[in-house]
Amino acid sequence: MKVVPAFSVVAIPLMTGALLACGPAAAADEDAARALARENNCFKCHALKKEKDGPSWIKVAEKYRGKPDSQERLVTHLTSGEMAKFPDGHEEKHKIIQTDPSNDTAQVKNLVDWLLSLQ
Ligand code: HEC
Repeated sequence: MKVVPAFSVVAIPLMTGALLACGPAAAADEDAARALARENNCFKCHALKKEKDGPSWIKVAEKYRGKPDSQERLVTHLTSGEMAKFPDGHEEKHKIIQTDPSNDTAQVKNLVDWLLSLQ
């Protein structure tokens, strides 16, 4: 049974990795995040990688990565109608995100967590 130790060396770290990935600090729910963004027409002005009227979300993630209050900051951005500067220089209130049921911060946080995880 010389196969067993070799199997263990490879398989145990793999299994541990899989378990950690599903742990309680689970990653954001990407499907829910994308669905919420689609329902809100976020992709009219944003793309993951491309600059449109709004910055690409990967760029936003880079800007906020490692900053302690980034989630809170972006939840405020999405729920308060802050002034947003467009590439042509004009400013208008940023879209306020709609959730169902309304004002469901958990859904907004999930979208923000997913956005911040992009790379
Ligand atoms: C009408 C166009 C438009 C729509 C629709 C829109 N955005 Fe934006 N968004 C912008 C612009 C323009 C900026 C840049 C604001 C600035 O830098 O002043 C921006 C900035 C952002 C930022 C970065 C904020 C920061 O602090 O750097 C995030 C995150 C964001 N939008 C997410 C979203 C999400 C999520 C949605 C959908 C609910 C959405 N946007 C819908 C135009 C839009």
